[in-house]
Formats: sequence, structure tokens, C-alpha cells
Amino acid sequence: MVDFSGVSLEGKTAIVTGSSRGIGAGIALQLAKRGANIVVNYVSEGSKERADEIVKQIQKIGTKAILCQASVMNIQDNPRLVDAALQISKDGKIDILIHNAALGNEADLKDVNVEMYNSHFDCNVRGPIFLTQAALPYLPRGGRIIFISSAAARLGVAGQTVYASTKAANEALVRVWAKELGHSHGITVNCVNPGPVATDQWFQSDEQFLKDMQPMIEATPAAPRVGEVEDIAPLVAFLCTEDSKWTTGSVLSANGGLYN
Ligand SMILES: NC(=O)c1ccc[n+]([C@@H]2O[C@H](COP(=O)([O-])OP(=O)(O)OC[C@H]3O[C@@H](n4cnc5c(N)ncnc54)[C@H](OP(=O)(O)O)[C@@H]3O)[C@@H](O)[C@H]2O)c1
Repeated sequence: MVDFSGVSLEGKTAIVTGSSRGIGAGIALQLAKRGANIVVNYVSEGSKERADEIVKQIQKIGTKAILCQASVMNIQDNPRLVDAALQISKDGKIDILIHNAALGNEADLKDVNVEMYNSHFDCNVRGPIFLTQAALPYLPRGGRIIFISSAAARLGVAGQTVYASTKAANEALVRVWAKELGHSHGITVNCVNPGPVATDQWFQSDEQFLKDMQPMIEATPAAPRVGEVEDIAPLVAFLCTEDSKWTTGSVLSANGGLYN
């Protein structure tokens, strides 16, 4: 008899930051397909409709979903995300926390300013640290924390002084928290790091950047193309399952073999 219970997320509750569109929306739907209840988070007023559509799609799949407008940059918004998760959780637990929301603008070193530095670090690094702190009392043993990092953390792409630093910080955090939250909390903490993925963040890159990246994309070992959301989301979902319990503090490359 075929037994897929090790990859089921039946009855689990997940917060997916930045799940109104792009990779976050893909992850939210993928977790729901495996049985999880989802907090769909967005920040911009203009994304409310799209986020609501993701909620409806999840409810159609048959699990619970709740909309939560909150900025991970504002520490005072964290209780709203936690409360939303508790509203859809059957047992007062938040099993899965996905740190997906991020800013990803490019700027050469000479053009980096403090405002850009602060916004990116507040969203991509400070945000996940304090949201994790707020959610931790509700994460059970067997809980999962996953960061969406980026190939930028290791590739060394010109124009990514700030973004690459924040993503390298994400990869450092999973190694630290794997140790801090392992024995004490029974939680695993991992990163998935995509290469270029066809989402708004990618298409908003400036023309020169996209041109510079083209040779690398054509040389991607798995296939000569940018990644799709569907290439990434199932890998994130796997790291949320019971079958992935012996993986922690790791970075799973989801970049078609650009590097490992
Ligand atoms: N696309 C790529 O090529 C690529 C490659 C490697 C890694 N990544 C990483 O993958 C993740 C998702 O990227 P994506 O391309 O899917 O991005 P995206 O299409 O630009 O979507 C960003 C999402 O994050 C949300 N968000 C932004 N700031 C937020 C805040 N302060 N609080 C809460 N939510 C916020 C947005 O909400 P609104 O809709 O409300 O604005 C949106 O849902 C990011 O961590 C990114 O760094 C992307």
C-alpha cells in the first residue's frame, strides 16, 4: 500500500509572509494542497484583492485560510500575524513559519544609501527575527521555520550589495537557530534559495541587470530558463513535512544547479 503520510501537512497551521503573489502565493497554495491551514499575508493596499483570491483558492482546496494585512517591517504588526494563525489553528499551535516577504532592489555600491539599507534590512532580516520571536511560544516540537533566501547570498552578483547581504544573513540565521531551537524546542530551521524566478521582483529588475544575467540563465544546468514558482514551492513544502525531520540548518538550492 502506498503511504504518503510522511509528506502530509494535514491539520498543520502555517504563516507565509508575503503570500499575496509570487513565490509566497505558490508556497501558500502548495502547503494547503498538503492539508495545512494558511495565514495569507500581504502589505500593500493594492494587493488586497490578489491576496483575497489566494485565500479563496485555499478554501476551495478544502483547508482554512485567513487574510492578514501586516508589514514584517513593523514589529507592532507581529501580534496580528500570530493572532490570525491562532484563529485558524485547531490546537493553538503554529506549526510552520515561512519567512518569504522581502525587498530586493539592486543598487551599485556607490548608489547605496541609508534608506535603502534600512528598508531592506528591516524587511529581510529584522522582520523575520522579531516575527519568529513572537511566534515561538506557539511553535510545537516538530515545528518548522523556513527562510526563502536567494542565490544572491552566494553568487556575488554586481549591484546586490544590500540584497545579497540580507540573504546571506538569512542563511546565517538558519544555522544559528538550528542549534538554538533544536534540542530545546524540537524545531528545524532551513533555507531554500532560489535563483532567478519569474515573479514581479524579477521583472522589476532594471533592464541592464536582466541583460547581464542572461548568459548565466542560459547556462543553468537543469534548463536554460528562469525558474518558475512551481519549481520552488514543492521544495519548501517538503521541508515542512515530517519526512524532512533530519534536515536542519541547511540551505536547499532551488536554482536549477546554478551552484550548490
Ligand atoms: N523572484 C526571484 O527571482 C527571486 C530569486 C531568489 C529569491 N527570491 C526571494 O523569494 C521571496 C519572494 O520573492 P518574489 O519574487 O515572490 O517577490 P514578489 O513577487 O516581489 O512578492 C513579494 C511579496 O512580499 C510581500 N511583501 C513585501 N514587503 C512586505 C512587508 N514589509 N511585509 C509583508 N509582506 C511584504 C508582498 O506583498 P504585497 O503584494 O502586499 O506588496 C508580496 O506578497 C523573497 O524572499 C525573495 O528575496 C526571489
